[in-house]
Amino acid sequence: MKEKSAKEGFSQPVLAKYPTDASCPVRWITANLDSAALAHRLGQWLQTGTNSSHHASHLLQLATVDTTGGPQLRTVVLRGAEPAAHWLRFHTDLRSPKYEEIRKQPRVALLGYDPNPRLQVRIDAVAAIHHKDPLARLAWERTPASSRASYASRRAPGEPVKDGTFAPPVTDADEVGFAHFVVVHCAIEVIDLLELDNEGHRRGTLVRTQGDWFWQPVTP
Ligand SMILES: Cc1cc2nc3c(=O)[nH]c(=O)nc-3n(C[C@H](O)[C@H](O)[C@H](O)COP(=O)(O)O)c2cc1C
Repeated sequence: MKEKSAKEGFSQPVLAKYPTDASCPVRWITANLDSAALAHRLGQWLQTGTNSSHHASHLLQLATVDTTGGPQLRTVVLRGAEPAAHWLRFHTDLRSPKYEEIRKQPRVALLGYDPNPRLQVRIDAVAAIHHKDPLARLAWERTPASSRASYASRRAPGEPVKDGTFAPPVTDADEVGFAHFVVVHCAIEVIDLLELDNEGHRRGTLVRTQGDWFWQPVTP
């Protein structure tokens, strides 16, 4: 009896936390949807995250394959996206392990979840690295000084801390920071969407072939 009431107590806040479908009447996945329109909607979803740190797409999980063939996963900030969801971009440090991982295996995956429409967005992409080129220069010029500072650190991400301080010495030379700064451009190939719904979940994949998106509904 005691165990039953504990379970009931647990289920209440979980249900209350997520909106019901009545509060999210605009569905993403419907019958006979238009592939291009859905891709544009996703492009807007991604673009909103580049402008608002409160939006669900602002932080995405990036998966790469490490040098032993194992999976690696971490959070990145979405810095750019294209209206038709053809690509997205994030920034990283050339010295971080993910740089070498992407260089060796450019196929990456990104994951987002928007709790309001209860939408999971899984992205397969091919990453291209921009370092010390015009695209990287433009992004660097738009990067605030506070963010530039981490690229100017004299210690590489993941390097052991030996002097007991997490605040490493920082060089004031802007060009040193720029030399570590990398824009990762991810050309999106597949987007797997899962929309949770109390009346039945819906799922499908958008596959990009020769610049056009094709929608295939699949079993959730
Ligand atoms: C909220 C948040 C945002 C982050 N954004 C980035 C980012 O945009 N780029 C990045 O390289 N690391 C970012 N990080 C740090 C990474 O998640 C990761 O810890 C670090 O880059 C080392 O990853 P690696 O060892 O796999 O290369 C972020 C971490 C958090 C918690």
